[in-house]
Amino acid sequence: MEFMELIKKRYSVRSYKNIPVEEWKIKKILEAVQMSPSAANRQPYKIIIIHTEGRQEELKKIYSAEWFVQAPIVICICGIKNLAWKRNDGKNHVDIDCAIAMDHLVLAATDLGLGTCWICAFDPCQARKILKIPDDVEPIAFTPLGYPADSPREKKRKLIEELVCYEFWQ
Ligand SMILES: Cc1cc2nc3c(=O)[nH]c(=O)nc-3n(C[C@H](O)[C@H](O)[C@H](O)COP(=O)(O)O)c2cc1C
Repeated sequence: MEFMELIKKRYSVRSYKNIPVEEWKIKKILEAVQMSPSAANRQPYKIIIIHTEGRQEELKKIYSAEWFVQAPIVICICGIKNLAWKRNDGKNHVDIDCAIAMDHLVLAATDLGLGTCWICAFDPCQARKILKIPDDVEPIAFTPLGYPADSPREKKRKLIEELVCYEFWQ
């Protein structure tokens, strides 16, 4: 798919079909994560692939929307802060690296005809408990992964002029 077409095709899918995702598609998506850039090439994250079948009730404690567990797979990206690059002023780049990896994942999934939805409004305590995430690792974002059962909505976005300025902040 042409790149701009792919970007415009992606949307937050909030309804999924009850059909499995092919293993080869999951592999491709993970390859996209692997290839994503990260500060100092540290790749300070781990992806947890969760099969939802039989785990719907516990997974809904992490994020309660019904569609979250409708998809056959839910993915969590976890940041490993002490592996991430830090700037001289101490700013840790783990969140940025995780966001780039997740965006690669989401776009690769779209290219393969799959749906995703960024989820950050989850319960981090439940996520830690249910997914056995250690204290020095942070669950950063989730997405369901499956075939969309809804249709894209109209994209409402700010005008480019509102998002950009030139030469100086203004
Ligand atoms: C960092 C981030 C966190 C988000 N968290 C949630 C969430 O917790 N629940 C949800 O339904 N959508 C969530 N979204 C989806 C946004 O609401 C959505 O991307 C935005 O409204 C634009 O719509 P579109 O993705 O369909 O283009 C999140 C998106 C991003 C980028």
